[in-house]
Amino acid sequence: MIVCLCKGVSDRDVHAAIDQGSRTVRDVGRCCRAGTDCGACVSAVRDMLQRKRSRNPPASG
Ligand code: FES
Repeated sequence: MIVCLCKGVSDRDVHAAIDQGSRTVRDVGRCCRAGTDCGACVSAVRDMLQRKRSRNPPASG
């Protein structure tokens, strides 16, 4: 499924960016360019980050 229409970034690409260490919407944008144009997909990217974080909480927290 395409998450970011502007850059043609799929949910798989965003998940891959998160798996590679992206922790913020800005990180994801740097990694796969999602959210770096109109910004309409930023809330979807943020949701994905939050879901991933709640499944894999950081070791320190
Ligand atoms: S839809 Fe992602 S930046 Fe426009």
